Amino acid sequence: MHDDTARAILRGNDRTTDGGAYTVPTDMLYPFQWNWDSAFAAWGFSTFDTDRAWRELETLFAAQWADGMVPHMVFHDAAPGYFPGPDVWGAGGEVPTSGISQPPVAATMARLVWEADPEAGRTRMAALYPKLLAWHRWWMETRCGSGAVAVCHPWESGRDNCPDWDVGLAGVDGSGAGDYARRDEAQVDGAQRPTKQEYDRYLALVRFGRDCGWDQATIVADCPFYMADPGMTFILIRAHDDLAAMGRSLGQDVTELEGWAAALRDGVDSLWNPELGAWDAKDLRSGAWAGIVGSGALLCWLAGCERPEMEAHLARMWDAVTYGLPSSDPEAPSFERKRYWRGPVWPQMNALIALGFLRAGRDWDEARLREETATLIETSGFREYFDPIDAAPCGGDSFTWTAAVWLAWAGR
Ligand code: GLC
Repeated sequence: MHDDTARAILRGNDRTTDGGAYTVPTDMLYPFQWNWDSAFAAWGFSTFDTDRAWRELETLFAAQWADGMVPHMVFHDAAPGYFPGPDVWGAGGEVPTSGISQPPVAATMARLVWEADPEAGRTRMAALYPKLLAWHRWWMETRCGSGAVAVCHPWESGRDNCPDWDVGLAGVDGSGAGDYARRDEAQVDGAQRPTKQEYDRYLALVRFGRDCGWDQATIVADCPFYMADPGMTFILIRAHDDLAAMGRSLGQDVTELEGWAAALRDGVDSLWNPELGAWDAKDLRSGAWAGIVGSGALLCWLAGCERPEMEAHLARMWDAVTYGLPSSDPEAPSFERKRYWRGPVWPQMNALIALGFLRAGRDWDEARLREETATLIETSGFREYFDPIDAAPCGGDSFTWTAAVWLAWAGR
């Protein structure tokens, strides 16, 4: 029964236009194509419609910029009420887009889609391969100067308002944002969403990017927010590994990809905070640590970058809540169980963390996380995210990645 509902959600959120086929994360609240949401959608589609799965990724990569960047949002639809919409970003080509990227999970998801139907996937993947490679190169060349992956906007990390970014955002002047109507506030309880002060700063960063014409050299040198993140680094390492594995099957020379993965495995050492005894985000402007064990750190297994200290944090953080792994340390003062990325549990993060457990041979942990994620969905529906203590439903409903994660993993 849940399988039928999940498939109906993916079909219901499917938007097929002249420009291609894409899935909105959820109707109304998020009316466009989002980068990592689409990668998870493809994984979900691969359980019952492989052609549709590939088309999701193909449509996303059709919006790739000339420099290789794949934007975090693609504005296929005018959706005039959305803020910040295409006119605020002032970015993209034929199809307007946002000006930043999002977690590069597409190669990891493409590999799973390919495995679901090896025969059909070969030609589709062969066509996508150079585009994925160009995107991975973009990350290495523009965001990895410190050795690890950095983000120029909290939204680039996908974990929009997690406390990891507080230290970097403190240096951003949000005055001058003026009045504006946020789409999320009209539709979701304000107590579950980022505050106005945070939002003003997000908009200041968008303005900075637009004013420099999204010139990467200027952004890397001068954007008032620039933080290195273990979570993004682990995701990119894993994506390099997955792309390399697919490249080998396609007969490609993957030396460059192997080199990138090795370089990041060295570089991520710069994000080990000895005082915290954990992987930690770092403000590259001030040099300050975020000082928080976030869900990004829990992706270390995904990349094979685990350390014994992280096992202790995992056990501690997991036992402090009831369902799955929270988006932020439940024992830290910044923890808020219902506010977006400051505590709630996110189904797609659980799925990524679980892929890491599988890689590390932690089958028991993977099973526990899968069962807890399934319970959240069975109890509260296909919601955007959940309260990790009592499973209360949060954010948008009939959510694409929740349905996808159910079909491909949690409901298995
Ligand atoms: C929010 C999330 C982001 C996601 C988007 C669409 O902005 O923080 O990770 O991609 O919504 O679901």
